[in-house]
Order: sequence, then structure tokens, then C-alpha cells
Amino acid sequence: MNQLLIFYLLAVILFIFGLKLLQKPQTARIGNLVSAIGMTIAVIATFFQHFENYFLIFSALIIGSAIGIFLAYWVPMTAIPQFVAMLNSFGGAVSALVGMWAFLENRIPEFVNPIQFHISVGLDIFIGTITFVGSVIAFSKLQGLITEKPILIPFKNFINLSLLIASLISIFIFAFTKNPIFPWLILAFSITLGLTLTLPIGGADMPVLISLLISYAGLSATALGFTFSNFGLIMVGSLVGASGLILTRIMAKAMNRDFWGILLGNITPPEMAKSSDDRSFYEGRIKTATAEEVAMILDYAKSIAFIPGYGLAVSQAQQIVKELYELLSKDGKDVYFAIHPVAGRMPGHMNVLLAEVDIPYDRLKTLEESNELLPQTDVAIVVGANDVVNPLAREEQNSPIYGMPILDADKAKTVIVIKRSLAPGFAGVVNPLFIKENTIMVFGDAKPVLSEIVKAYRELKV
Ligand code: TAP
Repeated sequence: MNQLLIFYLLAVILFIFGLKLLQKPQTARIGNLVSAIGMTIAVIATFFQHFENYFLIFSALIIGSAIGIFLAYWVPMTAIPQFVAMLNSFGGAVSALVGMWAFLENRIPEFVNPIQFHISVGLDIFIGTITFVGSVIAFSKLQGLITEKPILIPFKNFINLSLLIASLISIFIFAFTKNPIFPWLILAFSITLGLTLTLPIGGADMPVLISLLISYAGLSATALGFTFSNFGLIMVGSLVGASGLILTRIMAKAMNRDFWGILLGNITPPEMAKSSDDRSFYEGRIKTATAEEVAMILDYAKSIAFIPGYGLAVSQAQQIVKELYELLSKDGKDVYFAIHPVAGRMPGHMNVLLAEVDIPYDRLKTLEESNELLPQTDVAIVVGANDVVNPLAREEQNSPIYGMPILDADKAKTVIVIKRSLAPGFAGVVNPLFIKENTIMVFGDAKPVLSEIVKAYRELKV
């Protein structure tokens, strides 16, 4: 065990370095590689610890890797959130199953105190099952297998709190009585809690829930580490738990959600479920332009900001955006990309799309950097973004998005918005940006619209 500790320590150090490198797009790839090396070391260490089971370990490695490689190529970019939810559900299920197995087979390691063993078995089952059930619900909502709408449960907070207290009391009694009825009771409570925590959360809030569940999966791995006194699991589980919590906090801030409410499953605000999208708001107040007119406006501009949003991902317009970016840059214009942290439907969604087509990293500006630049920018081109540029977030206290930090697109001298219709974004509210004096709408799917703009711009230049 002690010789293995050094390998686990090495793996954890590599994970920490990997996480650090993942902070910046420039170093993210190498960060992934460093973490993968850490994981390989941990797997090899485990292999030597349980050498007698080499056939089972090898078979699991080969089958798991084959499925992983296949899924990594096969799953489309827009389905990554439900893919992550599915992977996360495995982590939870493993903790719960191994915990239950350890108890049923009485696998108390010699050097582990029986009370520590039973408490951690209880926690394995409790946290692991919540993670599994919650992740399956998140997956089902995102995949459209069940309704995306929040399912309102009366007295939800009271029920959740009662289930939490009942589970903790059961774990406590189990630790001292070892009565075999308690693991099953804990299982029943945690299945119910997994459902009551996640069903009231709206489909589009699922990524916040998933990052919270990632953190729970980390905690369940830590609990499993205590069951077997496995330091590798304890350390890695804590890292995952803390990272998941930090990500949840960042997303809560960027989406204007209450962090503590999220921990209790109160993510989707009640006003969101009934938010209105009254399109008569726009009647007679919209100005539109053709691709040729947009090309002329761009020709006159010196500085241009692209503001990508969820529609860019739907339309898969990243390649054509890059083409336009290159054309404009070649003409000596200062072109940058203003990236909102929750644009799209998953953390880093826009960064991933733009990295796919090799947009130079120094052209990607954060929310804060962009908001300093936008008032001096000649043209802001909003490509399939809506909520992240909605001034209601600054101006309308009764709006569900009030208080969410936004990109100040409306402060640019001219704003061009490319989207298919006047349909709202995820928050389901109207967007006064579309009727501003300096805004021009170009209706259509982002990819063909941008292709027409590129064509018109090229024609202007010959
Ligand atoms: P949204 O506010 O959801 O707006 C996207 C817009 O894209 C829609 O109004 C839609 O209008 C347009 N669109 C869709 N398909 C298009 C296509 N093929 N071509 C052109 N336009 C298209 O997106 P956003 O501004 O990126 O904001 C993200 C929202 O999602 C925020 O409210 C955020 O809180 C929420 N959210 C984000 C995350 C993460 S982690 N990123 C997770 C959950 C929720 P049309 O239908 O008219 O085209």
C-alpha cells in the first residue's frame, strides 16, 4: 500500500497540474494530456495492487476504452452536456454499488475502523445514488426522453430537507448498529431525493445541475476512498468535488442563479416557468438589412466584434465565421470575438467551437475585456446569441434575467443581429436590443446568411 501511495500522489500532482493548464485555451490540450498520464499511472498502480484479478481488470480496460473512443468520435458537439451527464451517472452508480457490495460481502479492510467503514458505506450509497439518479434525469431531459419543463413538486424544500435528515440519521444509526435494513433505507431515501432534487429543474438549466452532480460524484469517490482507505480515491474525489463546486459557482454567477439555492435544487426561478414572449413588442419597430448592405457596413468599419451564441452551435457556422474574420482582418480591420461565459449550452461552448476552426486565442475576449472594447467598436455582429446580449438584464428588475452580466452589444456604434426569427432565447423573454436605433436584423440561418455576407463582401472588393 505504501509503495502505491507514491504513485497515487504522483497521479494527483499530475491532475492538479492538468487542471491548472485547463484554465487557458492555449494550454488546455496539454492539460488534458497531463491529466490522462496521471490517470494511466493511477490505473497501473491499481492493477499491481490487485494483480490476481488481472483478467477482469484488462477486460474492463479494453471494453471501457473501446466504448469511450467510439463515443468520443460519435457524439455530436451539441450533445456533449447529456454525454457528460451519462458518464457522471456511471461514477455515482459505481460508488453506490461498490459500497453496497463491500457491506454485503463484509469486506472491511483490516486496518479500517468498522465505524469509519459503515459511515462511508452509507455515504457511498447516499451520494452515489443521488448522483446516479440526478444524472439519469439530466440525461433524459436533455435527450428529450422526458419533458424539459420544470416539474413542480409541492413542498419541495420541506420534502428535500426531510429526506436529507432521514438519510443522515440512517447513516448514523447504521454505523453503530450495522443493521442490514439501513443500507436499503438509505437507498430508498436517496433515490427519492435524487428525483425530487432534479425533476423541478428546467432542461436548459441542466448544465448547472450537471456541474453540481460532477461535484457530488467526486464526493462519492472520496467516500469510497474512506471505505477502503484508498488515498488515491480520497485525493482525486476531493479534487473533482472541489472543481465541480467551483464550476457550479462560476455558472451560477454568470446565469444569475442563487448558489445556495442550487445546492437545494432550486435552480430554475419560478418566474422563468411562466416568462412571456410577447412578439407584438417588436411590431413596426424592426429594421432589416440584406447581405449586400451588411457587407457595405463592414467595409466602412475599422473595428468589428463577433458575438457568438447558441445559434452559432445550432447552425454549425464556425467555419464560415472564420472565413469572414480572415477576410476582414486581411483588410486591416481590428476584429475580435466577445465571449460570454454562458453563451451556448455548456461551459466553454463558444471557445470550443472557435478553437475547432483555429481562431487565434488572442482574438477571443472575455466578458470584461469585451465590455471595455464594445463602446469603441464600429460594428458588433451578433451570431445566434440572444440572452447574453439582452439589455433587460441591466434595465428590467422584474425580468428573469435581471442581474445576469451581459455583453454590452448595444453600446457598439452599429449592431447586426443574425438569427432566424424573433423567437426568444433560453430565458424566453423579448429582447429590446432588436428594436434599438443602432440595430439591424438579418433574418435567416446563421450559416447561409454568413455565406451570403462573405460572397457580397468579396464582390465589393473586386
Ligand atoms: P440564447 O439566448 O438561447 O439564444 C440563442 C438564439 O439563437 C435564439 O434566439 C435563436 O433564435 C438563435 N438561433 C437558433 N438557431 C439558430 C440558427 N440556426 N441560426 C441563427 N440563429 C439561431 O443563446 P445565448 O445568447 O448563447 O445565451 C445562452 C443562454 O443559455 C443563456 O440564457 C444562458 O444562461 C443559458 N444557458 C447556458 C448554459 C451554458 S453553460 N452555456 C447552460 C444552460 C443555460 P431563432 O430561433 O430566431 O433563430
